[in-house]
Amino acid sequence: MFNTMTVTKAAGALIGALLFLMLANWAASGLYHVGDSGHGGHGEEHAQAYSIPVEDSSEGGAEEEEQIDFAALMEAADPAAGEKGFGKCKACHKLDGSDGVGPHLNGVVGRPVAGIDGFAYSDAMVAHAGEAPDWTPEALQEFLENPKGVVSGTKMSFAGLKKPEDRADLIAYLQSVQ
Ligand code: HEC
Repeated sequence: MFNTMTVTKAAGALIGALLFLMLANWAASGLYHVGDSGHGGHGEEHAQAYSIPVEDSSEGGAEEEEQIDFAALMEAADPAAGEKGFGKCKACHKLDGSDGVGPHLNGVVGRPVAGIDGFAYSDAMVAHAGEAPDWTPEALQEFLENPKGVVSGTKMSFAGLKKPEDRADLIAYLQSVQ
């Protein structure tokens, strides 16, 4: 009786101790996870708080890159270089007041868009005249960078002049040819 009690107590104590250890272990891991995920959540908040200004500043940077200081480019423009550049337009454009594949370009700077009587402009170019009535130097520099991008549907088959300096030189030259 005494022996049985001792064995039962010892076994109970042992099982109790094991249970306690298991519970303690489970509780500790639970606590550890709570602490960990709490910390992770905090970290995410920080990451988001920082990502917003980073996106903003990168967008601003892209806009700045695309914006060309065209006034400065025009001041530095070289009409003689523009005359050479006009070689790319000669196949279609003349400067003597007569039209070819394209309308004559003497006096084009400041001229109304689609403004040459008797030239068969595309519907796209006529519609463009409603949005941007005159070929200002700025309008020309945008159009000449990417003609089909600015006037979608234009019948001017020209890929565009990618270098802003080339466009400024050419416009300076065209300005001098009235
Ligand atoms: C393959 C022929 C071709 C080439 C090359 C070409 N153009 Fe044109 N261009 C045209 C045609 C055609 C039009 C009329 C477009 C329309 O009606 O949609 C036109 C229209 C224009 C207009 C609008 C004129 C107006 O009266 O509204 C300008 C400005 C112009 N071209 C400038 C240039 C310049 C500058 C170059 C050279 C960098 C050039 N083009 C190269 C065929 C050409």
